[in-house]
Amino acid sequence: MSVHEIDHPLIQHKLGIMRRADLSTKSFRELAQEIAALLTYEASKDFPLEDTQIEGWCGQVTVKKIAGKKVTVVPILRAGIGMLDGVLSLIPGAKVSAVGIARNEETLEAGTYLQKLVGDLDQRLALIIDPMLATGGSMEATIAMLKQAGCREIKALVLVAAPEGIKRVLDAHPDVKIYTASIDERLNQDGYIMPGLGDAGDRIFGTK
Ligand code: URA
Repeated sequence: MSVHEIDHPLIQHKLGIMRRADLSTKSFRELAQEIAALLTYEASKDFPLEDTQIEGWCGQVTVKKIAGKKVTVVPILRAGIGMLDGVLSLIPGAKVSAVGIARNEETLEAGTYLQKLVGDLDQRLALIIDPMLATGGSMEATIAMLKQAGCREIKALVLVAAPEGIKRVLDAHPDVKIYTASIDERLNQDGYIMPGLGDAGDRIFGTK
């Protein structure tokens, strides 16, 4: 399965709080980062380990370390920023590649307005972060951009996903793994995920 709906009690509890309409910006923001960290924990379960010798308190000891896995975190602006610190809290050495995607209101297609990628993408796992996987247009465009730049391993972390967005992304990129706290019911006529979280960017940044 390329989509992983993580039913961990902590994630489900925190997401349940995020769905409350009366939640403060501060709490929404904190919970987005906390769930992002928990999704990162799940998405890193297959990181390979290797043995290494260190000088411990009682002499030489063999310990584990992650075997050369380099990561770039790819927030899709603006809402993806709301998950960045959560991911970096578990993978502090990761480099950040920022991507700005906006819908062209005439063609309705996703267009790139910012692309600030790390140089060695071919050697890194990319963890794309965006709270809402709705139509999948921005995610599909971001994945295509990363592959074009040489990236060979991509995972997407989203708080809430719509079935329509999952299908679009996996039809175009079946090699990508999606980690989400919830697969919700559907998109409404305005492109919002139902029941969803509303406009995640506005709720994270306190705009509107
Ligand atoms: N973007 C959001 O912030 N919320 C949605 O429900 C869909 C897209």
